[in-house]
Amino acid sequence: MLTKLSVNINKIALLRNSRGNNVPDILKFASDCEAYGADGITVHPRPDERHIKYTDVFDLKKNVRTELNVEGYPDEKFLRMVIDAKPHQCTLVPDAPNALTSDNGWDTILHQVQLKEIVALLQENGIRVSLFINPEKKYLDAAKEINTDRIEFYTGPYAHHYSIDREDAISPFIQAAKHCLEIGLGVNAGHDLNLDNLAFFKQQIPNLLEVSIGHAFVKDCLYYGLENVVPMYKRLLN
Ligand code: PXP
Repeated sequence: MLTKLSVNINKIALLRNSRGNNVPDILKFASDCEAYGADGITVHPRPDERHIKYTDVFDLKKNVRTELNVEGYPDEKFLRMVIDAKPHQCTLVPDAPNALTSDNGWDTILHQVQLKEIVALLQENGIRVSLFINPEKKYLDAAKEINTDRIEFYTGPYAHHYSIDREDAISPFIQAAKHCLEIGLGVNAGHDLNLDNLAFFKQQIPNLLEVSIGHAFVKDCLYYGLENVVPMYKRLLN
């Protein structure tokens, strides 16, 4: 199975915002990623708009030719924006409004009723839905009940444990990905994936549909350049 690379461009927006003008231009960066082979663009607008602004999402939707994935906590403002902008995919995360970055998956049991309504609303608007989740059977079963199209595994713990014991680090994800196959949930993954740990993750999770990668990708661009970094990541995936 081919695994899609969706480039998270939050950090490019952060650089732009630090100067108050439009440099670097995130629309150009997104289309250059696509030109070099990326399969999608991901953004994660946060309530303080410290990197991606809500207006960026509308501009990106007009310009992205592959797939736009918008991540975020489903408060009223976020949901209104997503329904108006209609990205191809919306990944719901349980972040607190002031979170530095996503650091946990949904408790899909506790939030089942709320998430079921939100997922249905997004799907009625033609948007594919993914839920950010830890690799635990009980949360996957509840995610299936919620009727989400996909889940995105929170891979932070895998990445942190990879250099110590990669077999141990991947083990819960293998079990969880097999379970997703059995119950009919699509599998995405993201957080702290990089040039060192991505190939092993992909080899061990054959039903991986998409990864979204931002922080390490942008760091790699500083050393190798965007036109090289997209193919470097793509080679690890396929
Ligand atoms: N997935 C989610 C839900 C995220 O919040 C982030 C970070 O914005 C990522 C994936 C990408 O993580 P990273 O920047 O570490 O590649």
